[in-house]
Amino acid sequence: MSDFVSSFWGLAILVVSVVSVIACAVLLKSQSVVRKAEGLVETTGHLWDEDLSEYNNPLPRWWASMFYITIVFGLAYLVLYPGTGLFGGVFGWTQTGEYERERAAAEAVYGPLYDRYLKQDLPTVAADAQARGMGLRIFLNNCAQCHGSDAGGAKGFPNLRDADWLYGGEPEQIKTSITDGRDGVMPPLGPALGEEGVKNVVQFVRSLSGQKHDAKAAAAGKEIFATFCAACHGPDGAGMQALGAPKLTDQIWLFGGSEQAIAETIMKGRGGNALVPGQTRMPAHKGLLSEGKIHLVAAYVWGLSQDPTGGVPKAQ
Ligand code: HEC
Ligand code: HEC
Repeated sequence: MSDFVSSFWGLAILVVSVVSVIACAVLLKSQSVVRKAEGLVETTGHLWDEDLSEYNNPLPRWWASMFYITIVFGLAYLVLYPGTGLFGGVFGWTQTGEYERERAAAEAVYGPLYDRYLKQDLPTVAADAQARGMGLRIFLNNCAQCHGSDAGGAKGFPNLRDADWLYGGEPEQIKTSITDGRDGVMPPLGPALGEEGVKNVVQFVRSLSGQKHDAKAAAAGKEIFATFCAACHGPDGAGMQALGAPKLTDQIWLFGGSEQAIAETIMKGRGGNALVPGQTRMPAHKGLLSEGKIHLVAAYVWGLSQDPTGGVPKAQ
């Protein structure tokens, strides 16, 4: 009950549970009394089909006994299991504990199936069709919701099939991305640059990738880029994998290459604040997935980028 600041709800549940069980017992007892002496049966006053009257007899004994058994069972349950809100039950059972136990049992059975690939490097694992199938299933269960079931990505979520990497496409770099997570932060620069400055640097960024742009504005934006952007994106916009700063010279866009999208990126920034809509980050998967599973899914992802059609990756 640590989720609640006060014990009010725990107490409320305790009172409602116990009082209602006792009330059932009292009701049952009160209805089991034979009201009239033998032979003089009282009726409820209900009459059907002119002469069928309903007797007001107590429940049959076997029936009442079933109710008493239920009540005893209910009380025993409240003593053994967490049913009252305040008292956790003498068995100490919890949902989390149950889940952890089942998970540990599954891990003990299936863990070795995943872990046997740890001895092999990623390209070797990726060349093994069975291992790739396991990697695919891990991917679909844990990664597809963000990167797409074909790993093709979406706005803010990088494509993992292509040769363009924010943080590097070497086996170990991919594994690090998955294990530790990634959170590239592009600071909001709208206030520092002003409206005119943003407009100009947007034109310069468009010129880097050979898109339609206003040459005069781009020339003015070049200086701004050198001052404000080059430290992260590189002097020529080639990007920097250590920071996850994307290459700006190609046609691959994480957030979009239109004037409007680039302006939004520069003004509002992009980063890992999950509370702000449109801000995304790569969650760390250590603790969520076992080492063996991370190894398999990393091999799967690496394999995709070697052969974006999803077929058998070329042997290295
Ligand atoms: C909650 C959404 C989310 C989930 C789930 C997720 N990712 Fe990511 N992933 C991202 C985002 C966003 C980025 C880019 C981070 C950045 O740019 O700072 C990313 C980046 C990556 C990168 C680096 C890409 C590059 O270009 O360098 C890899 C590799 C990756 N994810 C693989 C995975 C795998 C494998 C899984 C499943 C085990 C997974 N991701 C699950 C959102 C997610
Ligand atoms: C502190 C480092 C840093 C600075 C300074 C910085 N950026 Fe970025 N920028 C990043 C990172 C990191 C990302 C990727 C953010 C993410 O993945 O969430 C990014 C993303 C972008 C994108 C989106 C690219 C895409 O593929 O959609 C554009 C455009 C961009 N930056 C332009 C600029 C411009 C122009 C400036 C200077 C006015 C600038 N950045 C300054 C780090 C930086």
